Order: sequence, then structure tokens, then C-alpha cells
Amino acid sequence: MSVARYDHGSRIPGWDDAVDLSKDPASIPDPALTPVPAELRQQIEAAMARYPDFRSAAIPALHAAQELHGWCSPEAIEQVACVMRLTPAYLTAVVGFYDMFESKPVGRNTVYVCTNISCSLRGARELHAAVQQAAGDDPDFNVRAFECLGACDIAPMASVNGAYVGPLELSDAERIVEQLRAGEDVLPEKQLLRRKVADPRASTDAPALFDDEDRA
Ligand code: FES
Repeated sequence: MSVARYDHGSRIPGWDDAVDLSKDPASIPDPALTPVPAELRQQIEAAMARYPDFRSAAIPALHAAQELHGWCSPEAIEQVACVMRLTPAYLTAVVGFYDMFESKPVGRNTVYVCTNISCSLRGARELHAAVQQAAGDDPDFNVRAFECLGACDIAPMASVNGAYVGPLELSDAERIVEQLRAGEDVLPEKQLLRRKVADPRASTDAPALFDDEDRA
């Protein structure tokens, strides 16, 4: 079986974007000159309060900014840097390292088709191609191959706007795209979230596993 690779040699895109070394390093943004949407500020501050070292909140803070802006744009990174009192370079390094952060504008519908070993052995390459073909050049879609998403038991699978679905068949590719276009729930019968499990307390309609007393 041949393994498809990008020009830089990796199986996934974007790891090797070069840094522009001719630029001056940016300093921590001045709060007086950096407007930050109130809700985003609140989310970032709440994340910072959860960790002994506030820098540990970089990932949830960037996720919140990406959710708001659609990608980790320079403006999004500057807003996070301003609230966290970090340099944009610090956060840019985090964005560059983690694959679920987008460093370029992308379509709002994200379909990550897992093409790692278990999924590949069950036809993930063909599935990825079929989803790409179904989405065509619609700018609303961000279809890409992904490394193991940790749900090998439902291979071949995909993460569709964060919802895991599988095992998928080639015919599901069209349905995924159509349902996303229609704003519908995607393949509800194949969502990992809705699978029955041995532990009845893990079911979505079961009471919470812990009540507040247990947590205290
Ligand atoms: S190989 Fe696809 S989820 Fe692990």
C-alpha cells in the first residue's frame, strides 16, 4: 500500500511552514491598542484561572479564539496574547505545533478523515477521496486527512465538526456533505456519542456520574 505524502515529506499538511526570520519579534500587545471581544476575554480568563501556570491555558484560549475568528488569524493570536500577557510568537509556536489549529483561513465545516493505520486498512484513503470529491471546491468545507483520532474501533472514521462518526462506508461521503449543507445532524446513527455502552451511566440521557458533593 503506498502512503500519500505532502511535498515536505509528512503525511499531514502544515508542519513545516517557514518562519520569516527577517521580521522584528512582536512584543506583548498593548491592551489600550488591542480590542478584545468581551466574551472571548471572559473565556480566556476562565481558562487561565484553571491552571497553576497560566500559560497552560494557551490551548483552550486559542481554541476559543479560533472558534470566534474561524482560524488562528494574526488578529486572533494578538487578542489571546493581549489577555494572557504573552508574545504572539509564543502562541504562534503553539498553533504551528498542534494540528487542530488552523494557521490559514478554512471552510467552517471541518471533516477530518482519519487515514492512520486501522482506518487505512479499512479503506480510509478511498473514503477521504470520496469526501473531497463530494465537497468539491465549496469554500464552506475543510476536508483533510488526519492522523489517528483515537477511535480505531470504529474504523474507518471521521471527525465532522468535532463529532466522531464511524464505521463509514463510501456512500456516507455524499451524505456527510449533504447533511452539513442542509445544517442537519450528521449520520446520527453512526455517531460515537450515541453508541450504547456497557456502562449505563455513560449514556447521554443518564444522570451525571458525579454530583457536586462527590466533586468537593
Ligand atoms: S487509525 Fe483511525 S482512529 Fe485510529
